[in-house]
Amino acid sequence: MDFFNYRQAKLFAEDTAVADIAAEFGTPCYVYSRATLERHWRAFDNAFDGYPHLICYAVKANSNLAILNLLARLGSGFDIVSVGELRRVLAAGGTPEKIVFSGVGKREDEIRAALQAGIRCFNVEVSGELDRINRVAGELGVVAPVSFRVNPDVDAKTHPYISTGLKENKFGIDIRSAIHEYRRAAQMANIKIVGVDCHIGSQLTETSPFLAAMDRVLALVDQLQSEGISLHHLDLGGGLGICYRDEQPPLPADYVAALMEKLAGRQYEIMLEPGRAIVGNAGILLTKVEYLKPTADKNFAIVDAAMNDLVRPALYGAWQDIIPAHKDSRTESLNWDIVGPVCETGDFLGKNRELKLMPGDLLAIRSAGAYGFTMSSNYNSRPRPAEVMVDGEQVHLIRERESFEQLWAGEALLPS
Ligand code: LLP
Repeated sequence: MDFFNYRQAKLFAEDTAVADIAAEFGTPCYVYSRATLERHWRAFDNAFDGYPHLICYAVKANSNLAILNLLARLGSGFDIVSVGELRRVLAAGGTPEKIVFSGVGKREDEIRAALQAGIRCFNVEVSGELDRINRVAGELGVVAPVSFRVNPDVDAKTHPYISTGLKENKFGIDIRSAIHEYRRAAQMANIKIVGVDCHIGSQLTETSPFLAAMDRVLALVDQLQSEGISLHHLDLGGGLGICYRDEQPPLPADYVAALMEKLAGRQYEIMLEPGRAIVGNAGILLTKVEYLKPTADKNFAIVDAAMNDLVRPALYGAWQDIIPAHKDSRTESLNWDIVGPVCETGDFLGKNRELKLMPGDLLAIRSAGAYGFTMSSNYNSRPRPAEVMVDGEQVHLIRERESFEQLWAGEALLPS
């Protein structure tokens, strides 16, 4: 559930009309709802009902400092994949002991920075990474907490670009060779084994792939136990889907209940790394219709947002709902392709949408809170949008619209 609703014919974000936000901050503009964000985080947290757990929000979904800070205030942990994300979490007031570090290509400087910060654990994804962590930890005179991200070879039944738990994917350590890596780690002077991790993909709409992966992880855990390697935590990754159109993913409570049923009787701290399910439906992208271009074959509505601002439709063919800021009947409903000004045929935000449109109308692209701003770019020298956070009737600017000077900041001319 989110807090973007119509009152009379006007779209509101919590108690604020989105048209007022556009008037004050311009378009395109990302608008987030604090109440939605917090509600979604709590839905995960409350689902554990006192059982030891840690929700490690996946920073890549939306890394704005204000969002990280609100989650840190709730007590959230964080799943990071780069030193840039580490710096963001620390700058936002996140606790190092609640940070887990995932990712297939951790550089030496990133490992060093994470060890110096004192993070909770590395999710090791490559055999050579374990040796590297052991060496860097030795140089620093510390012991590195590690868990292995195992690849359970389970079909997540999602878009191939965001499926990560099949053996042909680059992620994680083949679950069949994981035991060997654990044995190696157990012998290393500067490594402490603390857990196991598995993330099979994103935008999953069923629990069965999660449960299949968990069966394999638990079999590994039992095998480790029989060899005297005991773990403190199980990190079951992120990936719970959201409703973009008509998907019916399980609620966080049902998903967690299904996981806990499998755990029956075992005592491990459970970690989850949700991103999209927390922030996806807590954000919209506001955009203005610049021109209408009806042609003999297609009707194009050209808006001021583009693939550089929100790339999911162009990159994955993802469907995101597009709704008017003001529902009215000034004009007839037609079938429109909603396209941006970028010089690419792939620059669309939605195709075949029945809408009543006039130039100057304001539209909201829904479900844009996750993998929206974080995947934006400056392609076509377009400054990235402003971001605002609505809290009831209050609107806080949480990132200024980029300026033209920022577009070329750091660039340099050759000497004449
Ligand atoms: N943990 C790890 C190790 C991950 O790789 C990811 C996402 C997550 C957690 C969070 O997954 P979530 O709960 O958000 O599904 N750009 C794509 C999604 C890429 C997801 C990458 N990994 C999209 O826009 O659909």
